[in-house]
Parts: sequence; C-alpha cells; structure tokens
Amino acid sequence: MANQNIPYKIYLSESELPRQWYNLRADMKNKPAPLLNPETLQPMTAADLAPVFCEELVAQELDDTTPFIDIPSKIRDYYKMYRPAPLMRAYRLEQALGTPAKIYYKFEGNNTSGSHKLNSAIAQAYYAKKQGLKGVTTETGAGQWGTALSMACAYFGLDCKVYMVKVSYEQKPFRREVMRTYGADVTPSPSDTTAVGRKILAEFPGTGGSLGCAISEAVEAATTREGYRYVLGSVLSQVMLHQSVIGLETKAALDKYDITPDIIIGCAGGGSNLGGLIAPFMGQKLRGEADYRFIAVEPASCPSLTRGKYAYDFCDTGMVCPLAKMYTLGSGFIPAPNHAGGLRYHGMSSVLSQLYDDGLMEARSVEQTAVFAAAEQFARIEGILPAPESSHAIKVAVDEALACKQSGEEKTIVFGLTGTGYFDMTAYERYNNGEMSDYIPTDEDLARGFAGLPQFPGSMN
Ligand SMILES: Cc1ncc(COP(=O)(O)O)c(C=O)c1O
Repeated sequence: MANQNIPYKIYLSESELPRQWYNLRADMKNKPAPLLNPETLQPMTAADLAPVFCEELVAQELDDTTPFIDIPSKIRDYYKMYRPAPLMRAYRLEQALGTPAKIYYKFEGNNTSGSHKLNSAIAQAYYAKKQGLKGVTTETGAGQWGTALSMACAYFGLDCKVYMVKVSYEQKPFRREVMRTYGADVTPSPSDTTAVGRKILAEFPGTGGSLGCAISEAVEAATTREGYRYVLGSVLSQVMLHQSVIGLETKAALDKYDITPDIIIGCAGGGSNLGGLIAPFMGQKLRGEADYRFIAVEPASCPSLTRGKYAYDFCDTGMVCPLAKMYTLGSGFIPAPNHAGGLRYHGMSSVLSQLYDDGLMEARSVEQTAVFAAAEQFARIEGILPAPESSHAIKVAVDEALACKQSGEEKTIVFGLTGTGYFDMTAYERYNNGEMSDYIPTDEDLARGFAGLPQFPGSMN
C-alpha cells in the first residue's frame, strides 16, 4: 500500500511548483456577493476600483469565472526561493497524543517574513511594478503582512509605505525594524499624516489603533499620491487566489502518496490562508468529486464566523473602502487585545462567508490560553515555534485527533501551519508567567458592533 512509508516531510520538486493559481469562485454555484460602491450601492466596477488597486489585481478581484490563472514566471521565480513548502507528517505529535489519527501540516513559515503572506505580497508587488507604479501602501496589524510586502517591494524596487497599528508598532519594535531593513517606510496608525487619521485621533485621543483604522489611512495615502496603489494582505478574493498555491501544493503532495484527507483545518483572520489551503479540495467538493470536512478556527475574542452576522459591511473603520458582504462583527467592533493580532479583523473573506453560509464549511472559536497551551505542546513535540495565529489551527487539529482517540477512528487530518512565532515572544512570556486571560465578548458587546452595520434593502440575510 502506497500509504505505508510516508516521510516526515513530503517535498515537491521545483518543477512541481504550481504553474497556475486556482480560482475557487469559478466552481461556486452561489457566487460570493459583489463588492458594492458605498455611495451608489451598485456593484463596484473595474473603473471604480482602478484608483485604489492595480489593474490586474482588479481583474482578478472581479473574476468569478476563470478557474485557472497563469502565475507569471517572475512570480514563480520568486516562489522558487522558498517554495514548494513542505507538507509535514506529525508522527511525533500523533505518538504523544496516542491517537490513531494521521496528522499532516503544511508549513508556510520557511521564509524570512515568517508566514504565508509572502505568497500574495510577491504577486501584488509584481503587478504594481508591471503597471509602472512608484509604490504601494498598506496596513499591518501584527506585522507579518507588512514584513512580507516589504520583502516583495525590495525585490521589485518599489516604494512601500506601511501603516502599522500603533500598539503593534510600540510592542513589536523588531518587526518594525525588519520592515525598515527591507526599505519600507513605517508609520504608527492612527497618525496625523492623513485626514482620516487626524479625524480618528481627534475622536479617540490616545487610541492604540486598529486594523480598520490603518486600512483607512493606507487607502487615503495611496489615492492621494501619484503613482501609488493600495494593497491588502487578506480578505480580498485576489489574495485568496494567490494563496491557492498552499492548497495546490498540499494536494499534489498528498496525491503522491495516495493520501485522502478527512478533515482540513486552518486559522481564519480574513480567510486567505484557509481559503488557499482548502481551495482545490473545496473545488472537488463543489463539483461532487469528493467530500471533506473543513474547519475554520477563529479566536473566541473576535468570532466573526461563529457569532457574526452575514451582512454588507465596511471593510475599514473610516468607511472609505467598498462594502463587502461577509460574516462580520461590524466595522466599529474593536476586539479585546488578543495576542493573535492577525486574527483580529472584524470581517471574513466573502468567498469563505458564502461557503460557510451554504453549510460547506464549519467554524469553531477557541480561547487564547488553550491556543497557547497547544502551541507550547506542539513546539516541544514537533520543534517548530508556531505563530499564535497558526496555533489556533493546531488547537483544533489536536482536539480532532483526541476525538479520534476516543472513537478509535483513523482519520487523516491536515492543517495549515501558517507561520513562526519568533516575534510573538511577549505573548508567550505572558502565557508562561500565567498572566494571559481569555476574553469572550458579551452579546451586548457584539450588539454595539452590529448597530453600526449599514442598513439598506438586501444588506443582510
Ligand atoms: C501567521 C498568520 N497566520 C494567519 C493569519 C490570518 O490571516 P488570513 O486569515 O488572511 O490567513 C495571519 C494574519 O496576519 C498571520 O500572520
């Protein structure tokens, strides 16, 4: 049986690196709802989006029908510097848990930025350069996206302006310095460099900022400068498209050994890694070729899928971005300071939101002390120091493996290990000192966020 001698790491060769991204939307019967122009409430057209995003990225954002999109050779050349990423068999974890389950994880932390974010950063920087732009602007919360984009911009010789959520800017000086080392200009957000930043500062003096604020500032910085566009590292469908390399490689590695997963698990912030990981498998499910369970894992402190509403909402606090229909807590929802900064976004990819609403994917929320317990267990057994975001997936993979121990089922579990946690040691320190607490918003807390949802006919399900 092909399944017997599975190596610890399943590597693909360079020539097996995907040549095309897979656009899951093409196989969805119920397409994700279109982005709406907040003024006219009409679907955003390419012309509406062109002042904000690069042309080819706009085309990818609006493309619901083309199943495969060629990966330009310059992007593949960069991918080759750190991909294909290995698919690991967690033999030691299985043994430690005493489970009959077989556990695999796709490790995306093998590049200097330390996460999967580079897969989309390099694509977005490439298209900006191809369009002849001078530079790009973006926001970053925990810093992984900003780091990845800084690396990508350095590679293509683009200027990179990053608005970094102020608390992270202050708490994560090393992340900030990595970005500056790659040549990015990093501003703590909210700042007085934009009108929206000044407005937020006047309203909330001393605020530590949020991802929603930083997005508003970065969009303004791009649209008021000649030769600049805004780029985003999650939530958008184009980002999920680029991240499909994760799933395509995972599937190719599993296919080599005739392995069929039963459960595929990923953490979900804005949904890009999870969407990318599950894409080819979900495609099979949608086409009726195979069936899998998919589980999105989110923090209990920011539970957009498990407790949010499926509604049109603003993507940012300043309400300058298009409206997206998604599972959301409301753009005014400010989550508790959870240490998985990358999972603190109020909304979720509209593609994943639609799949979840259609019952094709499950979602689970977990509390942060349990996540850090799983992270440390994993680090000690498997050796990799995981990012707090990624550890959400570890926690649920372990829970599922323990359920198999109870039931005696030999399920195959695959999860996405999106990155490393070297810059998250303050969070680990708090956990190790017993100072970390769990926070679950009350229904009243959530009601405040929902109260700010835009109301118009058809805005909500
Ligand atoms: C390591 C890591 N994993 C996961 C995420 C969540 O983002 P997404 O849901 O877009 O994959 C982030 C976001 O910053 C991250 O840094």
